[in-house]
Amino acid sequence: MAFNGFDNEIARLVILQRIELATPLLVKIRKLFGRYLFTNFFTKFLIPRHIINLQYYNRMHEEYYSLKKYIDFNNKNILSIGAGMCGLELIINNFNVVNQFSIIEKNYVSKKIKYGWDDKNFEAYNNLTILKNFLNNNQTKSNFKVYDFDLGNLPHSKFDIVISLYSLDYHYDFNIYNHYLKKICSNKTQIVFDTIRPDYFEKLFNKVEVVSETKKRIHSSKRIICSEFIKWWA
Ligand SMILES: C[S@@+](CC[C@H](N)C(=O)[O-])C[C@H]1O[C@@H](n2cnc3c(N)ncnc32)[C@H](O)[C@@H]1O
Repeated sequence: MAFNGFDNEIARLVILQRIELATPLLVKIRKLFGRYLFTNFFTKFLIPRHIINLQYYNRMHEEYYSLKKYIDFNNKNILSIGAGMCGLELIINNFNVVNQFSIIEKNYVSKKIKYGWDDKNFEAYNNLTILKNFLNNNQTKSNFKVYDFDLGNLPHSKFDIVISLYSLDYHYDFNIYNHYLKKICSNKTQIVFDTIRPDYFEKLFNKVEVVSETKKRIHSSKRIICSEFIKWWA
């Protein structure tokens, strides 16, 4: 099993979003030729899309099974921040009765992706037209809405679950979303994301649970689930 309509452009975006899925040849090329040529040339023409599709499909299933031990996705409104190609969200949708998925993403691919910490939050690796087509090819229910972060008209309903794998506080500061999250969370909302500073979140939330740890992906990090903001007004 794999995703439908997984063409070269989608495989390229998935590799940029999930560099861990790059084949050893692509990793070598990135080291030899540098990030600019890797992002703008090699990932366009040297992509083994069938292999990437299978690996992405399997990896997203692993993510799903590890999260479902802690989160019940049924009958929930879910917000995903930096969902990439939404492989995980499509799988959650297949296995559960989800009310609504709202996806916040960026709509461009940086010329020279560095990964790591991005103070100004300029880095992005998505194309929302391609993402919407991919969602249409793979979803059985039409319950996804996609929002462009840079256009600003973000959803303002309350969410039960917020998912941000390897995005919020992994590549850019949680505080970019701090005020927004306070508006769209109740004290039962579970926010799951990856960070190198889990202790910092004990000052922001009453409940912080570390659910897994990743060593040396781009940097070592912990996946945490937070709920109940301590200062709702600040
Ligand atoms: C490393 S990828 C992870 C993608 C996906 N969560 C996954 O686990 O496969 C980070 C994603 O965050 C997106 N991103 C960057 N800044 C963002 C922002 N301010 N709001 C929403 N998404 C953002 C990027 O475009 C990219 O798709």
